Amino acid sequence: MPRLTIDGVEITTAGPTTILEAAKSAGIEIPHYCYHPGLSVVGQCRMCQVEVEKMPKLATACNTAVTDGMAVSTNSPRVEKARRAVLEFYLLNHPLDCPVCDRGGECPLQDYTLKYGPGESRTVEEKVQRAKHKILGPHIVFDAERCILCTRCVRFCHEVPRTGELGVFSRGDRSEINLFPGKVLDNAYSGNVIDLCPVGALTSREYRFQSRPWDLVRHTPSVCPLCSAGCNVIVDVRNRQRGDEILRIRPRENQAVNRWWMCDEGRFGFGYHHDPSRLRTALRREGAAQVETPLDDLLTRVAEEIQRIVRAHGEGAIGCIVSARHTTEELFLVRCFVRDVL
Ligand code: SF4
Ligand code: SF4
Ligand code: FES
Repeated sequence: MPRLTIDGVEITTAGPTTILEAAKSAGIEIPHYCYHPGLSVVGQCRMCQVEVEKMPKLATACNTAVTDGMAVSTNSPRVEKARRAVLEFYLLNHPLDCPVCDRGGECPLQDYTLKYGPGESRTVEEKVQRAKHKILGPHIVFDAERCILCTRCVRFCHEVPRTGELGVFSRGDRSEINLFPGKVLDNAYSGNVIDLCPVGALTSREYRFQSRPWDLVRHTPSVCPLCSAGCNVIVDVRNRQRGDEILRIRPRENQAVNRWWMCDEGRFGFGYHHDPSRLRTALRREGAAQVETPLDDLLTRVAEEIQRIVRAHGEGAIGCIVSARHTTEELFLVRCFVRDVL
């Protein structure tokens, strides 16, 4: 088990790992863009550079393995200078879109620039202009000017759904993410590139311009009810005068269930929550009419009715119909009720 120090903090890792992961486990932030624990490591954004004692050059923390006795600094003057330079390069051609960018307020490029970047721009040249609203698929729109070419989206499509719709085309400052000829970004997991993109280059056609992140007042951990996989999700809710509304559903990491991902069906298929014909109060049928009834009263009536049927016809006379939209946990409770209580 390697023992090392990062910024003077002694860390013993559970096994072979990288400097970035070791720092993360000790709660030390190393800024990064291209690294994601669910994707292959490419070490190309250069944002995660750190200084390692006895190494002549700065090392990229995401792909440098820890060794016993290593002494790492994440905030030495050399590291800070390198980070400032990397951010300055990213901002050379980056548009001043923050006020109208879906990522504004939850953007690692904004955050790192504020924390580690140069205070002002030295660029006087014209910025390179690129495509602004390129539709890549039924759910995804691409803004090439905002892209920092971290290739997370490209690697995701190659490695997770293995559909490989995206690639990097051209060279130098003309390099650009694009679809391979004849391809559309329409795989069943395409929405994950929105979460993966560390800037506002890949945005959701459904959520685009709907809200600012600070207007989403609740981020409720939940479970997707649309299939038996039960992906763990976060439900982002905005509050308005007319009431709460769900604006966005994102995956919540659970290594035993959905890892970091979720499918497009669960991510975008929540319109039924706001369907005006949806049952929102407890109703009791009285002849042809449906009468609104307090829920407690209704539950008491149902319990009495179940008892009457069991007394008159036995347990076999009771059945239960459930909805495919219930979560696995709710279905389990229904089964417990029917099997153990009735
Ligand atoms: S990607 Fe981030 S830095 Fe770029 S315009 Fe959007 S919010 Fe601003
Ligand atoms: S579109 Fe986003 S995820 Fe893809 S390479 Fe550009 S910055 Fe990275
Ligand atoms: S996160 Fe290490 S080089 Fe990008």
